[in-house]
Amino acid sequence: MLRGSNFRRLNTGRVPHANHDKMFVAGNWKSNKSFNEAKEFANAMSAMPAIPEGVEVMMAPPAPYLAALGSSGLPCRLGAQNVSATGPGAHTGEFTADMLTGCGVQDVIVGHSERRDGYGDTDDTVAEKVNRVLESGLRVVFCCGESLQDRQTDVHFDKVLRQMESAILHLPLEVMDRVVVAYEPIWAIGTGLTATAEQAQEMHAAIRGWLVEAFNAEAAAKVPILYGGSCKPSNADELFACPDVDGGLIGGAALDPESFRAIIDAAGRVAANRMSIDTGA
Ligand code: PGA
Repeated sequence: MLRGSNFRRLNTGRVPHANHDKMFVAGNWKSNKSFNEAKEFANAMSAMPAIPEGVEVMMAPPAPYLAALGSSGLPCRLGAQNVSATGPGAHTGEFTADMLTGCGVQDVIVGHSERRDGYGDTDDTVAEKVNRVLESGLRVVFCCGESLQDRQTDVHFDKVLRQMESAILHLPLEVMDRVVVAYEPIWAIGTGLTATAEQAQEMHAAIRGWLVEAFNAEAAAKVPILYGGSCKPSNADELFACPDVDGGLIGGAALDPESFRAIIDAAGRVAANRMSIDTGA
């Protein structure tokens, strides 16, 4: 059982940002694609040029396909879209984090707004799921984000940072290298509306600042903070160029291998740029 270390103060102030050194592009197919279509996607991706240096890629197919894709399928990290908050036992229909590990899963998306809003994942459930994922040695892609009403009433920073507080604050420092945060404004998911680069950057900077306060600057710099919400080839370069945006969690545009690849290539351009700044080249 993960135990909270110290109480850490919720801080909504800004601190200078720090870059994660790799870009991360994560796809979420949600409840889409037949099994054959999933295999065709895997083949199409395998036939493409190697993933650019400095970019990590993950795809989260529907759960019934995980074992097959884990043993022979996708040329990238394998993600799950959900996990049980409980361990093994009499929990019909649930699947545990250890079961996912056995299927070749490396990353688990937790706290997606579609699960929070449609399937009863409360803040407490989400925190439990985060714990289960990390206890199993997997990496968690923790989703947070505000509704349109939250943004219109100017409580969006409070909303997001409280979600962080509820699911992340209690974690011990040593698991933070297996935590990815995905900021996904609910009003931008699947709607075609995208946060502007400024809106994304200021929220990502607030999340980074919160991580610095809650843990420390070194740990905060290593947590990839992804943007999600109608990210597509036409806006990925601009969003990824923001200093605190370390990649994207992609829904609709991850369903087509070509558009997913175009987003990976956008991440590759940004990664190359960040590496050249790091090395002073
Ligand atoms: P979208 O979905 O890219 O289709 O907006 C993003 C998500 O829900 O993760």
